[in-house]
Amino acid sequence: METLLEKANEASIAKAAELLKQGEIVAIPTETVYGIAASAFDGNAVKKIFEAKGRPQDNPLIVHIDRLEMLDGLVSRVPEGARKLAEAFWPGPLTIIMPRGDRVADEVCAGLDTVAIRMPSHPVARAVIAASGLPLAAPSANLSGSPSPTCAHYVMSDMDGRLPLILDGGDCQVGVESTVITLAGETPMLLRPGYITKEQMEQVLGEEVVLSGAILAKLKEGETARSPGMKYKHYAPKAEVTIVKGDLAAFAAYVEQHKAEHTLCLCFTGEAEQLPVPCVEYGAKDSGAEQAHALFTALRRLDELGAKQVFARCPADTGVSLAVYNRLLRAAAFRVVEA
Ligand code: TXA
Ligand code: MG
Repeated sequence: METLLEKANEASIAKAAELLKQGEIVAIPTETVYGIAASAFDGNAVKKIFEAKGRPQDNPLIVHIDRLEMLDGLVSRVPEGARKLAEAFWPGPLTIIMPRGDRVADEVCAGLDTVAIRMPSHPVARAVIAASGLPLAAPSANLSGSPSPTCAHYVMSDMDGRLPLILDGGDCQVGVESTVITLAGETPMLLRPGYITKEQMEQVLGEEVVLSGAILAKLKEGETARSPGMKYKHYAPKAEVTIVKGDLAAFAAYVEQHKAEHTLCLCFTGEAEQLPVPCVEYGAKDSGAEQAHALFTALRRLDELGAKQVFARCPADTGVSLAVYNRLLRAAAFRVVEA
């Protein structure tokens, strides 16, 4: 199949909407990362997403809407907390899990009785939803297991020949996937950290948001993940990544002691010149938003530079940095050492 890469404009958005209505899949930009979209009502179209990504069938998808009326048939009810969060953070990088409605294709929910919903803020994503009139199921537009794409060029490098059209809407502002919270259970639980933080949601909900155990720890043998996506190895560059905790001086000493040929560092802005090997920087040490924006591009860049071993500076585990730490832990297959 020939894959067209087109700048997002009125004509290409109309073409994307037409393809989606015909049961095809299309890659679109969102404010978080690029996604591969299909009609959430069309099981056959959704199957094509799983095939294109090589994604395990038991990992459910997020449904994207552009207005609240679209919730009709997608969810069976809107919990009070979900209403509050939607009011505060939609449109934006927040996904809310709710009890599933009867119009969603089975393939979207992978057998669960809940469905993940998000209203994106990216103008192109919204225009495609509006032009097609369809809620769009869309996972990140990477091959399963590689870093989520934050620009159209990276979508092309993973998906060339696997889908008919990629809309180029420039660089994604946020850079990591949406925050995922479930309100389908008794207490609100954070399943995937993102740009909308646990602290911000607690403020709006007026109650504690519990962290799912899978966010900072590897699941044990036999343990089931509440968010199936969390159990897979993810975001992995080809190099072996190790997170090295400690201050910059200790980090530099550790790298000096353990470096080999093709060792590179993933470090914060301004640190490269103090380290004994080539580096890729990923934002200021105290800016979770900068780190989130830079992380996936940095991981792909390390591969492009031929890294075999990567030592990474450790982000904080609060605010937006929690999302960065969560993704980096997976890229590092949970290898963390103290310098
Ligand atoms: O920012 C984003 O969310 C991007 C853009 C394209 O919107 N999409 C994205 O989708 O990251 P994906 O498929 O890569 O990640 C969806 C995550 C997975 O971890 C999946 O397991 C979880 O959401 N998920 C989806 N439906 C769920 C459900 N009903 N219950 C629990 N987790 C669910
Ligand atoms: Mg993904």
